[in-house]
Amino acid sequence: MSGIEIAVLPVGGMGTRFLPATKSVAKELLPVVDRPLLQYAVDEARAAGITQFVLVTARGKASLADYFDVPGELIRILEERGKTRELQILAETQLEPGAVISTRQQQPLGLGHAVWCARHVVGNRPFAVLLPDELLWKPDAPCLKQMVEAYLQLGGNVIAVMEVPEEHVNRYGILDPGPGDGRITQVKGLVEKPPLGRAPSRLAAVGRYILQPEVMAILGEGRRGAGGEIQLTDAMAELIGRQPFHALTFDGERHDCGDKAGHVIANIALALEREDIGPAVRAWLASRG
Ligand code: G1P
Repeated sequence: MSGIEIAVLPVGGMGTRFLPATKSVAKELLPVVDRPLLQYAVDEARAAGITQFVLVTARGKASLADYFDVPGELIRILEERGKTRELQILAETQLEPGAVISTRQQQPLGLGHAVWCARHVVGNRPFAVLLPDELLWKPDAPCLKQMVEAYLQLGGNVIAVMEVPEEHVNRYGILDPGPGDGRITQVKGLVEKPPLGRAPSRLAAVGRYILQPEVMAILGEGRRGAGGEIQLTDAMAELIGRQPFHALTFDGERHDCGDKAGHVIANIALALEREDIGPAVRAWLASRG
């Protein structure tokens, strides 16, 4: 079995929690320190061996595909001025020509529907899904890399999970766990946003998936689930028992950047790790007591 070469990035959300910023900036381009959320997801995917990216955008979000253009004019000016550090940053984040394909989700019918919009590009291959709102931080062993390593041994479908507080289970896709071995758990069931007190565990899907292409046909049936949306969780649940299905408990930091507090915390956490700005941020935090 070989690794995973293609990743789907559902980036069509309206980002209403970040208004007014998201009137003209896609939420996936909001920075954490100096990198857009989208770049973190792309970097994580590249570290896992992904070479092809499918952006599932929406009306008004063309800037996401533009982000991957080569900024020719800017590069010329930086070269003239001898700005080697800035040129290096641009070079490191540039993807190969043709590596990014963008498609549209024409109506906001749910995450499952967004993934299904990528079906023609994915074809008959296993694929990854990364939700860029979720910044999963483990620079030496990024989440998707951990998952690909598990996938190469187990095959089938692998999703990343983390424990969340009991009072938050109704915000996530929640795992009904089967037998486990260390950080790997067999998936017995999956339920999208269970009511409080009815969740089978506190293990939540945190926006990273390795899926077999058969999930696309299930999504294509268009069944509505929680919130009246076509849910990825429901389609995945139908694969259980037909294909191997495992959850990997992610070992690393998770920042929910779809949430304002989570986004601010992510900025602070990553800033503190930086050599250039960490000391100033640490000193300011200490001065606040
Ligand atoms: C989506 C998924 C959910 C998952 C979550 C992770 O929910 O439907 O299963 O746990 O992402 O962030 P959303 O946050 O889009 O409501």
